[in-house]
Amino acid sequence: MTDLFSKFDPLIEQRETLLSTGLTDPFNLVMERVESPTVAICNGKRTILLGTYNYMGMTFDPDVIAAGKKALDEFGSGTTGSRVLNGTYGGHKAVEQALKDFYAMDHAMVFSTGYQANLGVISTIAGKEDYIVLDIDSHASIYDGCALGNAQIVPFRHNDIEALEKRLRRIPEGAGKLVVLEGVYSMMGDVAPLKEMVAVSKANDAMVLVDEAHSMGFIGEHGRGVSEAQGIIDDVDFIIGTFSKSVGTVGGFCVSNHPKFEILRLVCRPYVFTASLPPSVVATAATSIRKLMDSADKRAHLWENSKRLHAGLRQLGFTLGTDEPQSAIIAVIMPDLEKGAAMWEALLNEGLYVNLARPPATPAGMTLLRCSLCALHSEEQVGEILGMFAAAGRATGCIS
Ligand SMILES: Cc1ncc(COP(=O)(O)O)c(C=O)c1O
Repeated sequence: MTDLFSKFDPLIEQRETLLSTGLTDPFNLVMERVESPTVAICNGKRTILLGTYNYMGMTFDPDVIAAGKKALDEFGSGTTGSRVLNGTYGGHKAVEQALKDFYAMDHAMVFSTGYQANLGVISTIAGKEDYIVLDIDSHASIYDGCALGNAQIVPFRHNDIEALEKRLRRIPEGAGKLVVLEGVYSMMGDVAPLKEMVAVSKANDAMVLVDEAHSMGFIGEHGRGVSEAQGIIDDVDFIIGTFSKSVGTVGGFCVSNHPKFEILRLVCRPYVFTASLPPSVVATAATSIRKLMDSADKRAHLWENSKRLHAGLRQLGFTLGTDEPQSAIIAVIMPDLEKGAAMWEALLNEGLYVNLARPPATPAGMTLLRCSLCALHSEEQVGEILGMFAAAGRATGCIS
C-alpha cells in the first residue's frame, strides 16, 4: 500500500528539525485566557497580542457581547441547517441589512466564512468559457475558488497594472472576464493600486471582484475599504469580506449592486450545501458592523499606531515589507526560517505574540514576522512592543 501521507515527508522533516532545537511550536500556541483584544495569557504569562486580525478591537465590545448572549437565549446555539432550507433566521436577514447599510449597496449575501465567500462567488460566477485574471499573491481562498470552478486562470505579477492590462488584452474578444484583486495584501500589508486596476479592467470589459478582508472597518472614510479610500467603490462589481477580522467574530460575505445578484442564493454551492452561521454569531456581527459605521476616532488611532510601530521598527534596523505604513499590518522580513522562528520565540518570551509566516503563505519564499495592530493598542503598548522587538532582535542577532 502506498502511504498517502508520504508526500508530506519533507514538511514533517523540516518541522521536526526546527522543533528538535527545543523551539516552541510557532504554529500551535495556546491562548489560555484572553483578557481583552490586546492581551492574553499564553504559557501562564501576560502577552500583548500583535498577531490577531482584531483590527477594530470589537471582540470584547459590551454591545456586541450583549447581542450575542441575547440571541443565544432567544434562538438557541445553532441553526442546524442551510440558508436555503432551514437555516435562515431573522438574524441572517438583519446582518445582511447591516452590510447593505454599511456599504450602501443593494445586495448582501452572508456565508459561513470569508473563505467560503471567495470559494462560492468566484467558482459560481466564472464559468467554463470565462477567464479569471488574478494577482499572483492572491489569498488561498481566491485560488481555491478558481480551482473549484471551470474558468481559465490568468495570474499577473503582484500589483503590476501593466501586467494586468497585458493579460486582459490577450483574452479573446467577447469572453467573460473577472478580475480578482485584494484591497490590502495580508502578508506584506501593502495596498493595491485599485483605482488604476479597476480602470484598466473596465476599459477591457471585465467585471471586478475586490476582497477587502483586511481593510473593512479601518480603511476609507466609512471603513468600506481600499475601494472607498481610492474613490472607485461604485465601479467594483463584487466586494468580498469577512467577519473574522475587524468585525470580530466569524463569517463571510459578498456585497454587490448587480441586479441579478440574488440568484446566487440558489446556484452557489458553498452557500447552499453548508449550515448557516449560529444566531449568536450573526447577532454579534450585525451589532459590530453597525458600530463600525461610526468609528472614525478608532480608525484615526489605528493609523497612529501603524505609523508609530512602522517608524520605530525601521529605526531599530528591521527590514519591513513596505516603505511606508499602508495598513494595520506591518511585516518584518526575516533572513530565513530558523532566524524567524528564533525571533518569534524570543518575542514570545518577552511577552509579545506575532505571526510567523512562511511559504507557501508568503510571497517569494520569504519568512515574515507579521504584526497586526489593533485600534485598542494604547500608545504605551506600542512603546512596550518596540522595547520587546529591540531586546529580542539583539538577543537573536537580527539587529545589532
Ligand atoms: C484576503 C483574505 N480573504 C479571505 C480570507 C478568509 O476569511 P475567513 O477567515 O473568514 O475564512 C482571509 C483570511 O485570512 C484573507 O486574508
